[in-house]
Amino acid sequence: MNADFQQTPNNLCPYCSAAFETFDGLKAHVVAVHKTEPLPKPDGLIQLTVNGQSHKLLVAPEWTLYQVIHDKLGLTGVKMFCDRGACGSCTVIMDGRPILSCMTLAIECDGKTIETAEGIAEAGHPLIDSYVNHHTMQCGYCTPGFITTAKALLDRNPEPNESEIMQALAGNLCRCGTYPQHPKAVLEAARTLKEEHSK
Ligand code: FES
Ligand code: FES
Repeated sequence: MNADFQQTPNNLCPYCSAAFETFDGLKAHVVAVHKTEPLPKPDGLIQLTVNGQSHKLLVAPEWTLYQVIHDKLGLTGVKMFCDRGACGSCTVIMDGRPILSCMTLAIECDGKTIETAEGIAEAGHPLIDSYVNHHTMQCGYCTPGFITTAKALLDRNPEPNESEIMQALAGNLCRCGTYPQHPKAVLEAARTLKEEHSK
C-alpha cells in the first residue's frame, strides 16, 4: 500500500465524505456503513494542483472533475448547466487548455494543474473588471465558464481580434443572451494586459 496514501488526511469516504486517518479505517467504514457500495481503492488517490494549491483526493472511478472541484473542493464558481458537454458552463483550465469538467473523469487527472474562475479572480486578472465594466452577465451562471475560456485564449493569444474571440467562446452558451458583450470585455482585458506588460 502506498505510504503516502496512509499518511494523507484526505482518506475521505467517497460516499459520505467522512474523513479517516488511515485507508484501513476508511475501508472498515465502507464495509460497515455502505455495505452495498464497492470498496474504495488506494489507486483512486489523485493529486491535483488547483489554483496553486496541491490536493490529494480519493476519488471513485466514475466521478467527474466537476464533482471533485465543485462538490469536494467547494469551488462553486464552476457551474453545471447541461452535464453533457454542450454548454461550456463547467469549463476550467487544465494544463493551459480549457476543458469541460463535466466530461472529464477525475481519475484521469492525476498530476494535473487546474485553474478555475476563483483562481483567475484571486490573481487579479483584468478579465474580472472588464466583465463587470461591460455588463457581461445577467444571471451570471454562465460567466465563470466564459471567463476561464477567455483566460485560456489570452494566455495563448494575448492580442486576439473579435473574430478569434467569438471563435474561442463559441462553445459557451448563455441563456440570458449576453453574447455581444463578451468580445468587448475580452478586448478590454487584452488591452489592459498589454499596458501592464509594457510598464
Ligand atoms: S455542464 Fe459541462 S458542458 Fe454543460
Ligand atoms: S448571464 Fe445568464 S446564462 Fe449567461
